[in-house]
This record gives sequence, structure tokens and C-alpha cells, in this order.
Amino acid sequence: MVDVIRTIDRVGKWSLNRAVGRRRPLIAVFSLTHYCNYFCPMCPFGDSDKQGQIKLASKNDLTTEQWKSIFDKVSKYCIWSIIEGGEPTSRPDFMELVRHLDSLKLPITLITNCSLLHTIDLDELKRHIQFITCSIDSVFEESYCKVRGVTPQTYQRVMQNLQILNEHGVPHTFNSVITKFNTREFIDKSYFRKAKDLGVNSVSLTFVEDRSDVDYTLLPDRDTIVQVCKSVLEHIQSREDPQVMIPLQYFEQIIEHGRGMYDECGVWKSIFVNGNGTVMVPCWKYSSPQNTYSLLEKSVEEIWSAPQWEIAKTCHDCQVLGCIWYSSQPVTTFAQNYMMGLSKMISQRAPEAVEQS
Ligand SMILES: C[S@@+](CC[C@H](N)C(=O)[O-])C[C@H]1O[C@@H](n2cnc3c(N)ncnc32)[C@H](O)[C@@H]1O
Repeated sequence: MVDVIRTIDRVGKWSLNRAVGRRRPLIAVFSLTHYCNYFCPMCPFGDSDKQGQIKLASKNDLTTEQWKSIFDKVSKYCIWSIIEGGEPTSRPDFMELVRHLDSLKLPITLITNCSLLHTIDLDELKRHIQFITCSIDSVFEESYCKVRGVTPQTYQRVMQNLQILNEHGVPHTFNSVITKFNTREFIDKSYFRKAKDLGVNSVSLTFVEDRSDVDYTLLPDRDTIVQVCKSVLEHIQSREDPQVMIPLQYFEQIIEHGRGMYDECGVWKSIFVNGNGTVMVPCWKYSSPQNTYSLLEKSVEEIWSAPQWEIAKTCHDCQVLGCIWYSSQPVTTFAQNYMMGLSKMISQRAPEAVEQS
């Protein structure tokens, strides 16, 4: 279970820092590996040259001990951790890393494509993590395979693994990235019906943020985006399960302005650690050697005092990226939804899982 005393302590320290004008991270995101077994066109890890990616990962991925030392450093600040990648479950030491994070009392969300979950001891996993975010962009084989660049066999494997999650009582939610390939199921709401049938009571939805390193867009056209937003809003207002974990203001703003609105980017509230232990300031959009700091060599304080954080004060480059929009909202919007989401997750946990955690 989440250690409330620890959380209050970290939030207190964070607020004191804020009061004296110092920014510090609260959420930790660990991108455990450069390797992913998927080919998603919207994602830099979807690289089709898997041999090259494996080489890159074996050369640059942190070792088990290096990750542990980074977890130790970051846990002093953060109230929650997210492990992702690449595909985090592809690391042979995946469970060892999860165990270490848990020993630091950092609550854990695992983001995974779910294709390798059958290779993992889920009974042990559920003792260490709070919940899994399953990247299920589409609940239909054809669109899923298009968005994720995988075969129907992989889709079937994922569907079986979702069933295994249910059987083992592992709390999980779905996340869908909306691209031009999967709008229909949101417009006709079949995504919500099927997600419920597949055993989840909450979903997270975000429009695709186009990559700057490719010459194609995956965003649907404006009319279709508006149709999707209206339909999602109808679903939210119906209060039916599954609950949408992104506040309705996100969809309202996209209808009205064609993008999410925020005054100041909140990217500094989370620390995003790349597979090689580096942190880019203020974020990956400003990737360059002079904006890249190694967390193996530097402290969180040193990195969070870097002058490049000033860029985030005025940058409005991310148009529809849900996590950036969310972290840039007033603290009240954030807290309200955090509490709502947490209670939903806790209610989904099997009694046995709650007792053991
Ligand atoms: C980079 S993946 C890594 C974890 C894991 N391999 C997975 O597929 O869930 C983490 C999340 O980022 C999302 N994502 C990737 N590219 C994106 C983009 N261009 N816009 C919005 N979300 C994106 C994925 O769909 C996934 O839910």
C-alpha cells in the first residue's frame, strides 16, 4: 500500500522548496531500456532496425547496479515512480529492479505493451507495484496492429495476457494514444464497452503528439478530433465505467482551441531518466549535448538548478500530449484527479493484493 507518511513528508519538502522558489521533481519516470519489441510509428522506440536497437541497448542501457543507484538518488524527492522504456519487461533483471524500487517505498506504475507479461511472475509483481498501465491503443485487431506495427499473433498474445492479469488480480488500467488509425472506436464508444468487457474500470486517453524527427503526421483531421472529444465527453458525463482518468477540461480545450491550454509547462515536476541514465533539460524536445545531464554523475539538485529550465516557462510546444497538459494544470485539477484515480485503483485491487502489499 502507498506509505502515506512518506508521501506527506515528500510533498511537504516539495512545498517548502516551492515556497522559496526552488523547483524539484515529485514524479519519477524511469525509461529502463532503449529496446522495444514493437514498431509503433508514433514512438522513437518503434525503430524498425531491431538488431541496431539491441546493439544500442546493450551498449547504452544502464546496468542493474547503476539503475539501483539512480533509484536511491531519486527516491529522496518523489512520491510516485513510473517504469517504462522501450519495453521495460524485456529487461532480464526487470523484477530485481522492481523489487529494489519497492524496497525504497516508492509506489510504482508499470507502463507496458503487455506482450511479455506471460514471462513474468505476476503474483510477485502485484506485491510490488500499485498498478499496470496497459498500452491498449485499440481494442480491435486491425487498428491495434496498425497503430503498434505488430502482427495479429502479437495482438492475440496481448489479449491472452490481459486475461492472465485478471486471473491473477493484478490492478491495471488501459492507456490509448489516439491517432488517425483508431478514432472510430472512440466515436462509437465501442472502446469503452470492450475495455469494460476486458476487465478494466478506468482508462486514460491522449491524442498522439507528433514526433519532430519524422515527416508524417498521425493526428486525425480537425473534424474527427472534435468528434472524438465530444464522444469522450459524453462518456465521461454518463459516469459509466470505465472511468476516464484524464479530466474533461483536456477534451473541452481541444474542441475549443485545437490543443490543450496551459500557462507554464510543468515538465519539471517529473524527472524523466533515459535508458542511459541521462536527463534532458527541460525535456527531450531540446535534446542536445549541452542540455543533457548524467544522473550517474550529478545530483538532482545540480540538474534542477540548470539554466535550461527557464525554457519551460514559456514553451508551449506540446499541443496535445496528455502527461504534459496534466502536469501543467493548476494544483487543484491535478490533486482532484489524482485522488479520484487512486481511489478507483484501490477499489479495483483484489482484497488479497491489498493485504499483501
Ligand atoms: C514509450 S511507451 C514505453 C512503454 C511500453 N513499451 C509501452 O508500449 O507501453 C510509453 C507510452 O508512450 C506512448 N507514446 C509513444 N509515443 C507517443 C506519442 N508520440 N504521443 C503520445 N504517446 C506516445 C505509448 O503509447 C505508451 O503508452
